Amino acid sequence: MKKKDVLCTGKAKSVYYTDDDKKLILHFRNDTSAFDGEKIEKLARKGEVNNKFNAFIMQKLEEAGIPTHFEELISDEESLVKKLDMFPIECVVRNIAAGSLCKRLGVEEGIEVSPPIFEFFLKDDALHDPMINEYHIQSFGWAKPEDVVAMQELTFKVNTVLKKLFADCGLLLVDYKLEFGRFGDQIVLGDEFTPDGCRLWDAETRKKLDKDRFRQGLGGVVEAYEEVASRLGVKLS
Ligand code: ADP
Ligand code: TMP
Ligand code: ASP
Repeated sequence: MKKKDVLCTGKAKSVYYTDDDKKLILHFRNDTSAFDGEKIEKLARKGEVNNKFNAFIMQKLEEAGIPTHFEELISDEESLVKKLDMFPIECVVRNIAAGSLCKRLGVEEGIEVSPPIFEFFLKDDALHDPMINEYHIQSFGWAKPEDVVAMQELTFKVNTVLKKLFADCGLLLVDYKLEFGRFGDQIVLGDEFTPDGCRLWDAETRKKLDKDRFRQGLGGVVEAYEEVASRLGVKLS
């Protein structure tokens, strides 16, 4: 597979065309960003850890019947994926209150949310990813009603699979963000599932093992990601 011109350079990944017009290469860089690009740092090894972490999770999701864009790992920091027509939407599920939910509603961090809460956000850094609902999505044509249903169903299916996968390693899946796209007539999970886009706590101590370590300046960011990877059995070099 030949790597061609860059399609886009995001905050943490660069995306390249390939000689197959249906496939892209995702390059997971060491860049780490929070607060919609306000805080940026390079963290050694993060690109490799996230690339391999993402590959592991995407394969587990595929095995569980969830269509994903993941094709194969092609280097330490790069993966081959299907080229999706991405929806400008972020799908979030919360099992435990944290982050913007606590700020917005004044609820205490750490309380279990039952049933889990689903939220849509518009993918727009300049607007700080505002929360939106099905009406905004339909009225502004960001996705069709049947796509909204499919994204919600797939996001909850991911919750069932990953809550158990993490629980079996002594981890709580607090919340996570997914991005979907269209591949032909199929709705497919794109982007990434890594500790950059979810919250994971140690089940016993509730130690934060995700990007909140970076957001909150707690240190040991990549070490925490590596601990999660090691508990899952993700092979790193
Ligand atoms: P951000 O957009 O938040 O800065 P990244 O640095 O992760 O994020 O950039 C990756 C970009 O690639 C995002 O815009 C994402 O929506 C897009 N993307 C991810 N997977 C695919 C895919 N399979 N096909 C097309 N675009 C994708
Ligand atoms: P939040 O508490 O900031 O709304 O985020 C909820 C979860 O979704 C958290 O795990 C971080 C993730 N997320 C992103 O990774 N990127 C985003 O742009 C948003 C809105 C959430
Ligand atoms: N995902 C967003 C960013 O990287 C928001 C955040 O993580 O704070 O900027």
